[in-house]
Amino acid sequence: MTLVADLVVVGASEVLTMAGPSTPLGTTGAGGAEARLGRIPKGAVAAHSGRIVWVGPERELGDSVVLGPDAARIDARGGAVLPGLVDCHTHLVFAGDRSTEFARKMAGESYQSIAASGGGIMSSVRATRAATEEALLALASERALRLRSHGVTTVECKSGYGLELEAELRCLRVGRRLGEIGAHPEREGTPPAYGGIVRTTTTFLGAHVVPAEHRSDRARYVDEICERMIPAVASEGLADACDVYLDEGAFDHDEARRILSTARHAGLALRLHAGQFRDLGGGELAAELGALSADHLEALTDTGLAAMSRAGVVGVLLPGAWRTLRQTPPDASRFRAAGLAMAIATDCNPGTSPTTDPWLCAALAVRDAGLTLEEALLGVTIEAARAAGLPDRGALRPGALADLAVFPHADARALPYWLGDVHASHVVLGGRPISGA
Ligand code: NIG
Ligand code: FE
Repeated sequence: MTLVADLVVVGASEVLTMAGPSTPLGTTGAGGAEARLGRIPKGAVAAHSGRIVWVGPERELGDSVVLGPDAARIDARGGAVLPGLVDCHTHLVFAGDRSTEFARKMAGESYQSIAASGGGIMSSVRATRAATEEALLALASERALRLRSHGVTTVECKSGYGLELEAELRCLRVGRRLGEIGAHPEREGTPPAYGGIVRTTTTFLGAHVVPAEHRSDRARYVDEICERMIPAVASEGLADACDVYLDEGAFDHDEARRILSTARHAGLALRLHAGQFRDLGGGELAAELGALSADHLEALTDTGLAAMSRAGVVGVLLPGAWRTLRQTPPDASRFRAAGLAMAIATDCNPGTSPTTDPWLCAALAVRDAGLTLEEALLGVTIEAARAAGLPDRGALRPGALADLAVFPHADARALPYWLGDVHASHVVLGGRPISGA
């Protein structure tokens, strides 16, 4: 049977499908990760109506695929082709920045002490509450454009700088509008405040911290989340998942359990910020509740990692945050020993990870945490898609979304080797080549 295509990518040095087999060596570690890359030397990709229809060696393309009349043809010019990256953990929607407190942090003051003096997350909350939906969309769109220039085609967007019903809904609406592909054609030369730049998935993080006005009565804020915010977010269809920051200075184990159970009941998938500073049992909780991922994990013990692995919870590494906070990074060999899948994300946020560069994060995951280059490549694509609960992307296989990126490097291992500053030469979103990406 011959397949019809409306887009082909040719001229590649290699295509990494991320759909290779898991070997008996396991899913992680040098051998397992290498096989899972599904590397096709001189590979080609064909798509139709926004989905991949064929991936294989370019010399077999002609016998397998016919091009439709207006088919687009992308010449990779000897570069590597990867699935579009999934940035599976971001706080993309916020106003203001925190460069002043960054100076205090670098002078030695702790994250917690800055937060206790009214800085930290609350300072971004004040700026975000004061911003209009259009202003927030403009800011998030600029960040999304930068992410896309690095080859990102799907971005997870958390709320969590509103921390009151209306402001949380506004942030989630921005996340949704940002992902309305095709609804807001980009206009040449004007500020890109229109959304539609990347695909998004949205996560409700009303449980980021207890906002200042509820500090004396935190139980009321947890009630507010469970009784008003989650029902409103779910009934308006504004979030795909719910996240809780379970750590010292944020929410405790019982509060996290109640919030996540309520969210699960409302039909939301679950995520968790766990073990950034202390292990409060987040690995076990994520496993017990069937969360998609637990993220940060710098302080997580082996018991927590093992529980996550048994339950298929993905571990998300956030190098920008451990670097900014000057923490001891997690150790990939412990994750490997537990058989835990490792994803990597930017954690783009104004406090602990002001970056929109997934390749910088991948490079730091390799240097600081000891991931192999192959594990890093899996970590920003297929493992990130799993962490975000998106089985239709992160890999190039027939039926998957035709979201891909071409890089001007013949060997894809160069991408996490460079210390950031890696840009895609082409990005394809839903089978549509993006000009000037
Ligand atoms: O993922 N850990 C909690 N939340 C963010 C930081 C948010 C902030 O400082 O504004 C993070 O690192
Ligand atoms: Fe985060």
